[in-house]
Amino acid sequence: MTGGTRAVVGIVGPGRAGTAIVTAMVEAGWSVGPVAGRGPDREAVGSAADRWAGAAVSVAEVAPAADMVVIGTPDREIESVARAIAPTVRPDTLVLHLSGARGLDVLAGLPCRVGALHPLQTFAARFDASRVAGSWCAITGDPQVEELARAIGMTPFALNDDDRASYHAAACLASNHLVTLMAQVEATTTVPLEAFGPLVRATIDNVMVMGPAPALTGPVARGDFDSVRRHLAALPPGERDAYLAMARRTAVLAGREFDLGGAPS
Ligand SMILES: NC(=O)c1ccc[n+]([C@@H]2O[C@H](COP(=O)([O-])OP(=O)(O)OC[C@H]3O[C@@H](n4cnc5c(N)ncnc54)[C@H](OP(=O)(O)O)[C@@H]3O)[C@@H](O)[C@H]2O)c1
Repeated sequence: MTGGTRAVVGIVGPGRAGTAIVTAMVEAGWSVGPVAGRGPDREAVGSAADRWAGAAVSVAEVAPAADMVVIGTPDREIESVARAIAPTVRPDTLVLHLSGARGLDVLAGLPCRVGALHPLQTFAARFDASRVAGSWCAITGDPQVEELARAIGMTPFALNDDDRASYHAAACLASNHLVTLMAQVEATTTVPLEAFGPLVRATIDNVMVMGPAPALTGPVARGDFDSVRRHLAALPPGERDAYLAMARRTAVLAGREFDLGGAPS
């Protein structure tokens, strides 16, 4: 932003992550210009353009009017979006994507500044920027990506493309697999999921303060494999494999031999 004019951000893919980041940018003083998605008449495009007083356009029309372009499409679409905006993008425009799994190679054909900012956060609803500030993010590419991250209250850390796959796998474990684990909790008992909230939050708090191994409690950590056998017998058949896999991993963390005696393992 120079000379009192507000810098203009354009967005391609106004979904959950894209609208969170652009909403945070608006709160930080940016103005929204072009908004594109799978077509100018898509609901996602119209609602975002209305909300930010932007212009619903096609992907090919996004670049000329934007100082920065945020690509918030699914990962598999980033490369084709980059190809579509390449002919009209200005050399001083920064184009960045939000993917954790993809590196800068997907933006390689763009004749402008490029970068990636992966929020280490989960956005389950559109336009919800409440968790942007305070979250960490993996950054790479042009130095303006770090400036942007700090301007919207995030804590940036550099991530090389070679380290992306393992980093993104860790992010999936921390968020997606935790969700799946909670679905397993819900499927295993008639006690309401809500009742497990304080337990889950205390567990996460302990892990963050003490580290995983000291935070471990429960039957495997105590070597009480009799209880583990009873759990397996009581579980719905479809939940046993996942339980067993995690119980084995828990034994490794606890430094205990996994010993179910005669029970199936
Ligand atoms: N959600 C998260 O928690 C999160 C967190 C960190 C990073 N990310 C990253 O953010 C990116 C988007 O994820 P998301 O969860 O926000 O996805 P999403 O909610 O499904 O949003 C994707 C958006 O892209 C649009 N789109 C799909 N194909 C397109 C195309 N070919 N051209 C233009 N627009 C297209 C979709 O339009 P329609 O609505 O019309 O389908 C939608 O508006 C991914 O790179 C992901 O890794 C997501």
